[in-house]
Amino acid sequence: MSLPWWQTGVVYQIYPRSFQDSNGDGVGDLDGITARLDYLADLGIDAVWISPFYPSPMADFGYDVADFCDVDPLFGDLAAFDRLAAAAHARGLKLLLDWVPNHSSDRHPWFQESRASRDSTRRDWYVWRDPAPGTGPGTGQPPRPPNNWLSAFGGPAWTWDKSTKQFYLHSFLKEQPDLNWRHPPLRAAMLDTLRFWMARGADGFRIDVAHFILKDPELRDNPPNSAPSGGHKPTAAYDTLLHVHDKGHPDVHEAFAEVRAVVDGYDERERVTLGEIHEYDLERWATYYGRPDADGRPQGLHMPINFGLLQTPWTAEGVRAHVDAVERLVPEGAWPNYVLGNHDERRLATRLGPAEARLGAVLLLTLRGTPTLYYGDELGIPDVDVPMEKRRDPAGITSGVPALGRDSGRTPMAWDASPSAGFSAAAPGNLWLPLHPDHAVLNVATEGEDPASMLTLYRRLLHLRRTTPVLQQAGAYRPLDGTPSSVFAYTRGEGDVLVALNFSPGEVPFSPPGGDAWSPLLSTHGPVSKNNLRAWEGVVLGRRDG
Ligand code: NOJ
Repeated sequence: MSLPWWQTGVVYQIYPRSFQDSNGDGVGDLDGITARLDYLADLGIDAVWISPFYPSPMADFGYDVADFCDVDPLFGDLAAFDRLAAAAHARGLKLLLDWVPNHSSDRHPWFQESRASRDSTRRDWYVWRDPAPGTGPGTGQPPRPPNNWLSAFGGPAWTWDKSTKQFYLHSFLKEQPDLNWRHPPLRAAMLDTLRFWMARGADGFRIDVAHFILKDPELRDNPPNSAPSGGHKPTAAYDTLLHVHDKGHPDVHEAFAEVRAVVDGYDERERVTLGEIHEYDLERWATYYGRPDADGRPQGLHMPINFGLLQTPWTAEGVRAHVDAVERLVPEGAWPNYVLGNHDERRLATRLGPAEARLGAVLLLTLRGTPTLYYGDELGIPDVDVPMEKRRDPAGITSGVPALGRDSGRTPMAWDASPSAGFSAAAPGNLWLPLHPDHAVLNVATEGEDPASMLTLYRRLLHLRRTTPVLQQAGAYRPLDGTPSSVFAYTRGEGDVLVALNFSPGEVPFSPPGGDAWSPLLSTHGPVSKNNLRAWEGVVLGRRDG
C-alpha cells in the first residue's frame, strides 16, 4: 500500500526572515525562498513549512498576526506567495503554512473592534473577564486578574483594559491576545482562513501552540507545581504552576476534528495538519491524533509534533526508550514524526555537538515516521552568541530571562563564502541578525564540494531514504537487544535495513547479527569498518538479499 506524501516525505522548516533576502533589506522574503527552491528540491526534501509571513507588527516576529489572509510587505505580497506556491508545486514540493489559531496581534482589526466596547459584536472573539472580586472600579482596590494564569513569556496572562474596565487573556505577549475558540463565529472565521490558503495552494498547516486553543471554561486557578521540571524552557515563575487549566482542555480534540474535517474535505488533494503540541507525557501527546472514526482512522491532527528527541538524554538507552514509547503509543492508523530542531530551540550542532548532530541526522532520517528538518541544520550551523544590543527576540527581553531568547538559532542561512554569505545584498552589519561566525566554511557552496561535510551527509541520507522503500514507507521498526550499552540499533522492514548508532565518544565493538549478510549503505564516518563503531558513528547497512 502506498502512503500519502506527508507520511513518506521529509518536511523542511524555513524561518522566512533568515532564508534568502531578495531585495537587499537584510531580511529574508518570499521571493527569496522561491529563488532557492532548486536547492531544496536537489537536497531531497518533500515539503517546505514556512514560519509566519502574515502582516504583523512583529512583536513576536510574525506569531502576532494582524491579518490571517495576507502577506506582510516585509516578505512580499499575495502575488509573491502565488509565485512561490506555483514554483514549489512545479518542482514537486509541498507547501505548509504556519497557522496561528491561539492568538492574533493586538493590532488585528478583530481585536481593535473587540476592545472598543463591551457591546462590540466582536467582544467575545477574545477572552475578556472582570477583575477578581473585591478589586477594580468602585472597590478602592486596584484591579487584580481573574485568576493566577501566567504568560509563557513572563508576567501575568491578563492585561487590564482601562477603557472597557476588563482584563483580556494572553498566553504569550500582551500584544498577542488569545482568541476565544468557545465562540462559534470566531471558530468559523478561523476555519475560513484555512480555506483561504488552501484555495491559494497550501498543502497543509503547521499549527502554532495547538494545545493552547481551549482552556478551562471556568478559568480555574492553576495549581502550584511542587516539582518544577524545567518543562519547555519556562521562566522560573511560569514553572511554579502546573498548567492544567490554561491549555489542553479535552474540548481541544473536538476542535481539531473540525479542523481536520475542513482540511481533509476541502478537495481531493491530500493535505496535512502538523500541530505544535508541547506535551511531554507521551500518552497525553498521543491523544492529539484524535479519536478513531468508524473505520478506525484517528480524526484529530494528522501529526501532533513530537518534540521528544529534543528533551531526551542523548544516550542509546534514552533515545531508544523514547522511540520505543512512540512506536507503542502512536494509535493504530496514525503516523509517527520526529524533530531535532526548530526556531524556538538552540541549534542542533551546538546543543548536541557537531559529531553528535551527525549521528542525529542518521537517526532522524531512518526512523519510521515523518522527519522535520530546520533550515541550516543540514549545514551544521551553530548557535550564535548574538551580542546583547543586537538581540531581537521578546522571549529573552520581556521575560527578563536572556537565556530564553531564541535569536541564536534564527540567524541567516549561509549559501556561499561571500561577506553576507549569499543571503543578502546588504552588508553583513545590516542583516537583521548576524551570520554565524563560521559562515565562510559552513555554507552550501563550500560544503557541497566536501564529501565529509554535514551537507553531503544530509544529501546522502535523503537520497538513501528516497531510494529505500523500507525507510521511506511503512517498513517496521524493530530495536535490537543485546547491543553494547552505548549502541542503539534497529532494523527497518523485515530486517532489510539495519541502523546502528554509537552514542559515545569512544570506539565500541559491534558486529551486526548475521555478519556477512549485510553490505554498507552509509556511515557518518566514510567507509564502514567491520567489527566496530567509531566515536559517535552511525551506520546504515542493507541486507544483501534484501
Ligand atoms: C510557538 C512558536 O513556535 C513560537 O515561536 C511563538 O513565539 C509562540 N508559539 C507564540 O506564538
